[in-house]
Amino acid sequence: MRVLGIESSCDETGIALYDSEKGLLAHALYSQIALHAEYGGVVPELASRDHIRKTLPLINEVLNTAKLNRTDIDAVAYTAGPGLVGALLVGAAIGRSFAWALDIPALAINHMEGHLLSPLLEENPPCFPFVSLLVSGGHTLLVDVQGVGQYQLLGESIDDAVGEAFDKTAKMLGLGYPGGPILAALAEKGTPNKYDFPRPMTNRPGLDFSFSGLKTFAMNTWKASNQSDQDQADIALAFQTAAVETLAIKCKRALKETGHKTLVIAGGVSANKALRARLDAMSQINVYYPRLEFCGDNGAMIAFAGAMRHSAMVKQDKPTFSARPRWPLDELGVP
Ligand code: KG4
Ligand code: ZN
Repeated sequence: MRVLGIESSCDETGIALYDSEKGLLAHALYSQIALHAEYGGVVPELASRDHIRKTLPLINEVLNTAKLNRTDIDAVAYTAGPGLVGALLVGAAIGRSFAWALDIPALAINHMEGHLLSPLLEENPPCFPFVSLLVSGGHTLLVDVQGVGQYQLLGESIDDAVGEAFDKTAKMLGLGYPGGPILAALAEKGTPNKYDFPRPMTNRPGLDFSFSGLKTFAMNTWKASNQSDQDQADIALAFQTAAVETLAIKCKRALKETGHKTLVIAGGVSANKALRARLDAMSQINVYYPRLEFCGDNGAMIAFAGAMRHSAMVKQDKPTFSARPRWPLDELGVP
């Protein structure tokens, strides 16, 4: 069966076609970075309007690439939450209308489940059970994954998500938007061990995270420095090292607690090279990631999650829908 995936939860319009027998047929992504850059962050209303402009052209582009027609689609999967409500409603409205017009099922997909399952799109996918570390702009989650829909939350951030802390620290250092990848690139020019930043919440038991203090620590260090280019790079490196080390300590703890030997990382921050290097260096553990282009938001992960859930789907005959700006993973259930 062929599933059309629509992702529109934040500042990227992602469309993909996934075939349960042939794999990913085509995908396309439009990033709104240029649109939001002058405001230094995502402007929700502008994001919604841009999703309206881009979704249908991208669906056509993906169908053309796959050399298929609309009638070749068997189901539509769209991101129903969590995310910006206006942006979500665009994907939901288009996805549901599309499905209704074609008389095929529409599947409301959880964005974080999309990220969580995205490494399964790779050639050498991880086997269940595993521990998943989901690191994005809105979430930092450690999840015990027994199978599709069988998710037990082990820990989460009690304040800023790690991606958000990267972005806010980058903004405070005067770097551009989106801050995470810019800060990571600058960190490569930093002097190792120039500063020693704290590893928040690692010296007490538990699997929750807190990144807001780390961001403040970076800000105070910056204010007390000469604010030279080298200071900027040194602080970027110290922040990244502390964030990565904190994530690694908690992953190790989660693996020990669950007894799992497989760690799966996904979400925007899973593109971070230092994080990958640190986790790859952990002994006796197999670590899996999505390919770089699927670390951030994309339509492929939504189409794939839709295909995974489709078999248990009951066809909806009502053209009504809702979006869920907040939607915890452990409320999903087995498909
Ligand atoms: O998963 P994602 O694309 O969107 C959300 O669902 O939030 O994640 C975006 C987050 C942003 O905070 C961005 O700065 C961060 O991922 N990010 C990175 C890197 N690439 C993206 N953070 C650190 N290092 C990177 N290389
Ligand atoms: Zn995301």
